[in-house]
Amino acid sequence: MTDTDIVSCTIEDGIAWVKFNRPDKRNCMSPTLNRRMLEVIESIEFRDDVGVMVLSGEGTAWSAGMDLKEYFRENEQKGLGAVRKAQREAYSWWERLRWFEKPTIAMVNGWCFGGAYGPLFACDLAFAAEDAQFGLSEINWGILPGGGASKVAAELLSFRDAMYHAMMGENLDGVAAARKGLVNEALPSDQLKARVTEVANTLLKKNPTALRATKWAVRRVREMTYDNAEEYLIRAQEAANSFDGEGRKEATRQFIDEKSFKPGLGAYDLSRA
Ligand code: ACO
Repeated sequence: MTDTDIVSCTIEDGIAWVKFNRPDKRNCMSPTLNRRMLEVIESIEFRDDVGVMVLSGEGTAWSAGMDLKEYFRENEQKGLGAVRKAQREAYSWWERLRWFEKPTIAMVNGWCFGGAYGPLFACDLAFAAEDAQFGLSEINWGILPGGGASKVAAELLSFRDAMYHAMMGENLDGVAAARKGLVNEALPSDQLKARVTEVANTLLKKNPTALRATKWAVRRVREMTYDNAEEYLIRAQEAANSFDGEGRKEATRQFIDEKSFKPGLGAYDLSRA
């Protein structure tokens, strides 16, 4: 990976900083970018030196959504096969990101439109610059918010807010996006990276098996009945125990026997597990 790559990636102190790197086109998602993003994500997922992935954008945009020229117009001219292929290339990296094995954070530094709501939702947490701009601009150029964008709005916003956002084609800034639940927090842009680093460092101190099980559980239970969720969570914890049973025992030992930490106030010392 290099800085000139359409997707850049730097690994530093356990954090993989992945960037849409097409600033001259406001990081809109072309088929080339989508193919490369899947490769990059897969190449870092199981690296021992990566505990958290952060997705941000180079320049003034996080991502200006799908590439209207290369993703839509050029593929439509080629026919249905090309359209479907391009859709699968986009959806496949969003899907991989939704179920990434490690915590993921969207660091939304600027424009975030339409198709970019796919990777926005795919990230577990999201932090935005106060002056970032979020929009379902599809209605402004005559299509519905597809590629999951309507679903993301309906998942993250209230019914009235989702309708207004999708139908009006007006943007929300980072502050409004945080207030309405599209992102966790909005910060002045010069504080954004420091806050994301702080959150990532906290995550790096947690048990990674428990984190993976937790992020998948929160996504899965949204679509389950209470009874099914209860059952799923029992099975998921049992699976986690058989995969990594020692962490929990060590944490219990540090709390009950050694009295060196309190779970209500922070994480146990992983290095001694
Ligand atoms: N698709 C294709 N090209 C794009 C896109 C896009 N989504 N977004 C920006 N670009 C290109 C522009 O055509 C321009 O190319 P050029 O330099 O060859 O002329 C270049 O990126 C810079 O764009 P500007 O519009 O000049 O940048 P500016 O900073 O003034 O505006 C903004 C940024 C507001 C993001 C504007 O580019 C824009 O409205 N983009 C489209 C956003 C959008 O609606 N995306 C689609 C959402 S729907 C979906 O994803 C399914």
